[in-house]
Amino acid sequence: MKGATNPKNFDRIVREVFAPIYPTIAEQIKERTKITQGKCLDAGCGTGALGRAMARISDLEILFFDQSDEMLSLARGYADDEKLGDRSTFLQGNIHAIGLEDESVELVISRGSSPFWEDWHKAYSEILRVLKSDGIAYIGGGFGNAELRDQIVKTMSENNPDWRNSFKDRIGPEREALPGILTTLNPTSFYIINDESGFWAVITK
Ligand SMILES: C[S@@+](CC[C@H](N)C(=O)[O-])C[C@H]1O[C@@H](n2cnc3c(N)ncnc32)[C@H](O)[C@@H]1O
Repeated sequence: MKGATNPKNFDRIVREVFAPIYPTIAEQIKERTKITQGKCLDAGCGTGALGRAMARISDLEILFFDQSDEMLSLARGYADDEKLGDRSTFLQGNIHAIGLEDESVELVISRGSSPFWEDWHKAYSEILRVLKSDGIAYIGGGFGNAELRDQIVKTMSENNPDWRNSFKDRIGPEREALPGILTTLNPTSFYIINDESGFWAVITK
């Protein structure tokens, strides 16, 4: 496993520092994919903040998916708190073998998880397998916009001056490999966003 995320620590950071990024990113996903109905898989959902933000601005049913039971338990608690339980399901598993049928979801979203995946070819091929025809995957990482990013970098660097560099070496190899992997997997189309919103692959099956 490539550097697991500590659930309690991550939960605190999401609540105290990252919280404002999720509604911004969810709006960008909605704007760029136009998918507001059906099933949405939040892959590597952590405590579920992005999936919940999508649920709040759409009619999507969110499938919260993570390898960590502890993250999923936190995600379930927050979904219940926000009364999103009837549009939420929770699935423990590994992105390299997603326990879902072929062509079962309209949208896959994922933020900040892919740098931890061991085998990107396998992971992206699984994501394409579970997507319905014409479904879209929006996979990547970032903080939504320059203002939020700069504020978060400032806050996180106060405790750990090397914070920004600490994840740079994890994301570089994936960014380099991704265009080749996606070309091999040959979806209907894909494009890469690399701007102040972050680095995102938008893939249409
Ligand atoms: C940095 S957290 C991001 C969580 C959330 N998406 C967010 O942005 O708040 C990365 C998450 O990916 C999950 N993860 C990492 N590798 C995974 C894999 N192979 N399969 C499923 N989940 C994975 C971790 O358990 C963790 O919850």
